[in-house]
Amino acid sequence: MTPRWDLLLTHATLATLDGEQPFGLIKDGALACANGRIAWVGRMSDLPSAASAVRTENLAGKLLTPGLIDCHTHLVFAGNRVREFDMRLNGASYEDIARAGGGIASSVAAVRAASEEELLQQSLPRARALLRDGVTTLEIKSGYGLDLANEGKMLRVARRLGETVGVGVRTTYLAAHALPPEFTDHADGYIDAVIAWLPQLHAAGLVDAVDAFCEGIGFSPAQTRRVFEVARALGIPVKLHADQLSDLGGAALVAEFNGLSADHIEYTRDDGVRAMAAHGTVAVLLPGAFHLLRETKLPPIAQLREHGVAMAVATDCNPGTSPLLSLRQAMQLACTHFRMTPEEALQGTTVHAAKALGLADRGALCTGMRADLVAWNVAHPAELCYWLGGDLAAQVIVAGQPSL
Ligand code: NIG
Ligand code: FE
Repeated sequence: MTPRWDLLLTHATLATLDGEQPFGLIKDGALACANGRIAWVGRMSDLPSAASAVRTENLAGKLLTPGLIDCHTHLVFAGNRVREFDMRLNGASYEDIARAGGGIASSVAAVRAASEEELLQQSLPRARALLRDGVTTLEIKSGYGLDLANEGKMLRVARRLGETVGVGVRTTYLAAHALPPEFTDHADGYIDAVIAWLPQLHAAGLVDAVDAFCEGIGFSPAQTRRVFEVARALGIPVKLHADQLSDLGGAALVAEFNGLSADHIEYTRDDGVRAMAAHGTVAVLLPGAFHLLRETKLPPIAQLREHGVAMAVATDCNPGTSPLLSLRQAMQLACTHFRMTPEEALQGTTVHAAKALGLADRGALCTGMRADLVAWNVAHPAELCYWLGGDLAAQVIVAGQPSL
């Protein structure tokens, strides 16, 4: 039978992220889509001669990669925190600012004051900026609402962003992000509330995963555990802001719950890395926050490699520690600050990022996967990490449909 495809892209340099070659590279390759999925991928010379497509495009050597996946963002927020940026440049630490009532609390006030529509309008340009630089799936956390109505508002805006921009969105419930003013000195009482709101938001289809900020200025391991136990009972996967500013054993804790990912992990020690390896928990590295906070403690990259822990890279797009609107820039920072190789960085925003979101249908150029693709104006995948800035994405395709 002669295949008849919707779209056939020819003469591309394919970074399939699959197979033995570095980057899964195929030099003179072709890729076909049908019904929003990848229907054929391989060498031009192996293309079935009778194959035809409704639309064929010669990419003339352009690089074709899977659509990038940003697996950790807080991009739904209102206002910004540029004043804190200035304060930190003048010597204040992130923790100083948080303890003085700024930081996350100031974004909470701004999100509570914004209507759902305003929140959507303010967040849209950020999602569009990520898409323009090649992101076709992104994770978005709540965590600036900190009450039932406002956490729900954030999660609904996240869903609407996906529909409006035409990207895949995974939502994460992060009510255990900071203590809201109405619970000052009652952190355990607040955790009771966080746990009580979850089933309702989950039943409304708003929660794909559950996260917490396990830190001196966030919640204790015991409080985090309580949230995770309820998530587990509801069958919702967990992930964690772990060991970012100090080592509270967060990585081992989330691994114990077979968590999808332990994120940040600058202060994680060997036992945490071993636990992650044993449970298949992905390390989500966030070099934007590292950079903005002028952090010097590096995540344990060598140990992660040694134990075979999958490493993902994400923007952590948020108004406080990482106002980063390009996932490619995060890859650049991961290479320069963490000495990840360009191949590791690209795996970190494709195959490993998909794993960090529990998504098996994307992240590589393989037959049967979603046709989420980016054609880039570069010849080699390492260039994606080499250029700082620039406008490199020539075409972004989501589920077989051009989005850019
Ligand atoms: O991933 N560490 C906690 N959460 C965010 C920062 C949020 C904020 O400061 O608004 C992070 O870095
Ligand atoms: Fe974060």
